[in-house]
Amino acid sequence: MRRSSLLFLCGVLVFLSGQTFAGNLEPIKPSPEPIDNPQTYEKTELGKKLFFDRRLSGDGTMSCATCHIPDQAFADGQDIGMSYPTTKNWRNTSTLINIGLQKFLFYEGRGKSLEEQALFPIMSAFEMNRNLDFVEEVIRGVPEYVADFKKVFGAEPDKKKIAMALASFQRSLISKNSPLDRYLKGDKKALSKDAVKGLITFTGKGKCADCHYGATLSDDKFYALNVPENPDFKDDAGIAATRRFVAKISGFEDYRTLNEDPGRYLVTKDKKDWRAFRTPALREVSKTAPYMHNGVFKTLDEVIDFFDRGGGAGNDALKPLNLSAEEKKCLKTFLIEALAGEDLVIKHPQIRQIPCPFYDYRKSME
Ligand code: HEC
Ligand code: HEC
Repeated sequence: MRRSSLLFLCGVLVFLSGQTFAGNLEPIKPSPEPIDNPQTYEKTELGKKLFFDRRLSGDGTMSCATCHIPDQAFADGQDIGMSYPTTKNWRNTSTLINIGLQKFLFYEGRGKSLEEQALFPIMSAFEMNRNLDFVEEVIRGVPEYVADFKKVFGAEPDKKKIAMALASFQRSLISKNSPLDRYLKGDKKALSKDAVKGLITFTGKGKCADCHYGATLSDDKFYALNVPENPDFKDDAGIAATRRFVAKISGFEDYRTLNEDPGRYLVTKDKKDWRAFRTPALREVSKTAPYMHNGVFKTLDEVIDFFDRGGGAGNDALKPLNLSAEEKKCLKTFLIEALAGEDLVIKHPQIRQIPCPFYDYRKSME
């Protein structure tokens, strides 16, 4: 072989070895770091403080951790997420574990980077409802933060750096030592017999790994599976208001008559993306019920049955699978057993919270 063709072949091999293929499950890896926001211990710790701080919300009752609860795999166990008092959220709260490995953020992928995303919930009318210029001044008013920002960024706190620190903390949340990782690295005893059978169905007859593959078990693509609307919220005026508000600010012309979540269509305005949602990452999935963008399925059995019958009426993405009861059982064992990492122990940071009468009032209502 000529030297140039040999070099070309080597180049192709190097290129391919860095690629992720459909069907292939891969061990977890650290989050990539953006060049302009490198990860440091001090920055991650500062981000953690901010993540737990109720100062980031307008009425002082909510921090990021109010909805992304560390003890619940950074989700909240509810079908539709919590919201700012007197408003309703419209979607299920996503876990933040392995979030740094995701290409798109939010169910329809409207968020691009964790730095950009971090400011959305702070200013969102139905989440923390805080003016960003105002929050900057509030954080600047806390001497401990001023010292921290000086140390980490060599500068005073501002909204951009608040977002950078929050992003940094979230990038540090990576699944730890899951049985799947041990198995993929060669420890064949890491999975039970049933979980191995489930893995075979996952990558074979069940076709799950056509979309759920790679290190996070997501292809970062969007599909319209025609997941049913959540019947519990069909006529909920609060949720309808939030849906129409998000549609309006996303430039959706007919937002006033919108009765369902348009999904990816909000970003692309392309008909084929109507009600298409991102393939979610599946790690830690046993800890993040209920499922789907609207929390319509309460259990993994319901999710597996949904895929087994070929998804929602009229969808083009899935076909019926005809799984046996045994195959479904093992698939569930795989999802529960293989994908659960060790619990991430997050020590609550020592930052003095603002005294807030609303907070005590809210707590007394729970
Ligand atoms: C009131 C509840 C609530 C609060 C407070 C909240 N979130 Fe969320 N978060 C959600 C919900 C619900 C979603 C899913 C929204 C969607 O996809 O449209 C979400 C999604 C996200 C995502 C994208 C997840 C994914 O898989 O794409 C990130 C990142 C995130 N939140 C970070 C934060 C940070 C950082 C804070 C604090 C500054 C915060 N959130 C505060 C409820 C909340
Ligand atoms: C065509 C691509 C595709 C295939 C094939 C597929 N999924 Fe999914 N999966 C998705 C999408 C998209 C969603 C999110 C839908 C939504 O939020 O409305 C999803 C959601 C899920 C969820 C819910 C996760 C959560 O946190 O809400 C689980 C669990 C799941 N899939 C498991 C499976 C299993 C098991 C199989 C195989 C039997 C499978 N998937 C096959 C694309 C796919």
